[in-house]
Amino acid sequence: MAEICVYGLGYVGLPTASLLATAGFQVLGIDVNQQVVEALQEGRTCLKEAGLATVVSAAFSSGNLVAATRGEASEIFVICVPTPTSADPKTGEHGVDLRAVESVARAIAPLIQPGNLVILESTSPVGTTRNVVGRIIAEGSGLKPGVDFDLCYCPERVLPGNTITELVTNSRTIGGFTPEAAHRAKAMYERFCQGNMTITDDQTAELCKLMENTYRDVNIAVANVFARIAEEVGVDIWKAIEFANLHPRVKILSPGPGVGGHCIPVDPWFLIEAYPEISGLLRESRHVNDTQGKRMLDRLMATGQLAAGDKLAILGCAYKCDIDDPRESPAFLLAEAALEAGLKPAIHDPVVEPGEHHGFTRTHTVSNDLESVLDGAAAAVLVTEHKQYRTLSSRSFSDHMPGRLVGDCRNWLNHSSLTLAGFTVVTIGIGGTEVRETRGAAKRVAHA
Ligand SMILES: NC(=O)c1ccc[n+]([C@@H]2O[C@H](COP(=O)([O-])OP(=O)(O)OC[C@H]3O[C@@H](n4cnc5c(N)ncnc54)[C@H](O)[C@@H]3O)[C@@H](O)[C@H]2O)c1
Repeated sequence: MAEICVYGLGYVGLPTASLLATAGFQVLGIDVNQQVVEALQEGRTCLKEAGLATVVSAAFSSGNLVAATRGEASEIFVICVPTPTSADPKTGEHGVDLRAVESVARAIAPLIQPGNLVILESTSPVGTTRNVVGRIIAEGSGLKPGVDFDLCYCPERVLPGNTITELVTNSRTIGGFTPEAAHRAKAMYERFCQGNMTITDDQTAELCKLMENTYRDVNIAVANVFARIAEEVGVDIWKAIEFANLHPRVKILSPGPGVGGHCIPVDPWFLIEAYPEISGLLRESRHVNDTQGKRMLDRLMATGQLAAGDKLAILGCAYKCDIDDPRESPAFLLAEAALEAGLKPAIHDPVVEPGEHHGFTRTHTVSNDLESVLDGAAAAVLVTEHKQYRTLSSRSFSDHMPGRLVGDCRNWLNHSSLTLAGFTVVTIGIGGTEVRETRGAAKRVAHA
């Protein structure tokens, strides 16, 4: 019999299961995806995370971690399955999809015994631990949460790319349906986690997790609005933010092409959907961040150097630098806006797995071959500040693309070298000559 069943062997579940196993627990890792389980049984994982392969291999070779497609009786059940949102294409409103969490709760119900502990780690709307997981297990087993079994919400805060280190060192908020449940969960995490552990109730922990990412989304939106104002005024937002941040109590974030990853652009919707009438600020922030790519596209087209029918090279589709994760990437929103404008987008990324990737309304092909993506392009736009792009010279562009237009969503390229070589550079948050051209051209478009 396993001591701990971990449901979902993805970016959160696999490292968690592996760390629990290397800490000495007998762990059964469960995933509905047969390929994930088979790969792990053969000693492989396709998740690219620093240090993950070593920890996974140590966990399996210790004999403490086994992977399977079905759970079994266990003292502790940990749920790390996806909780995505899906957008209504007409309204743009997102709804939360809790089907994976519900399905795991139904799977645990026939396995649970009195005295067991169930921990939900998946990011969830406030109330999910008790009203969804607790309720479904209670209905299926006849056991009551807080009476017959312990129930907890323990959210994850890991930064993709640095998951193993952060799982060990980050502080944790542990939300118990009862204080006893929280103390039991704390004892489990303490076996591998060195960070501070704060104990609270399940609903406070759920709200805490959603607030953390929503706070970041709103603050990025503020930086993006400031960038838009700077573009209009004709000043450099990057310098203005540097100066404003000299204030001892100000810390403005960097503007950019929007927000990606499957946490920050997703989690605000858990609050907006549940409390639509009081979350206008959160909705507007989502809108600002989701339209940054479209705004860059409009500015590029307003130069007159990019028009329907042209190829647009998009550089970078990992949602942040130097990682291989393209989920919810703003590059896909930009590509979809480009398609709507009649352009032919082509996406390059040096780190993301080449091939087909899901965007927002369609699938996109990502290539690792920069030359072929630039080949024939009228313009290129940098979305992700990968370190490989830092060294791109004007020759890197001019040798392959006929156009002389470059967009920079991260203020990452060498603008003076590009300008000297005859390129028009359009940068998020930098107004000036090109902004005045933009205004004129935008007017012409509006009157046409
Ligand atoms: N990845 C992160 O950095 C991160 C950070 C904080 C919170 N979270 C949250 O953690 C949760 C998991 O995220 P993730 O990144 O690990 O997801 P993921 O997509 O990487 O992995 C989830 C895994 O769960 C499996 N799965 C789906 N339904 C299942 C079921 N019914 N039973 C068993 N397995 C099932 C999938 O096949 C997949 O392998 C989400 O709620 C996410 O929002 C993730």
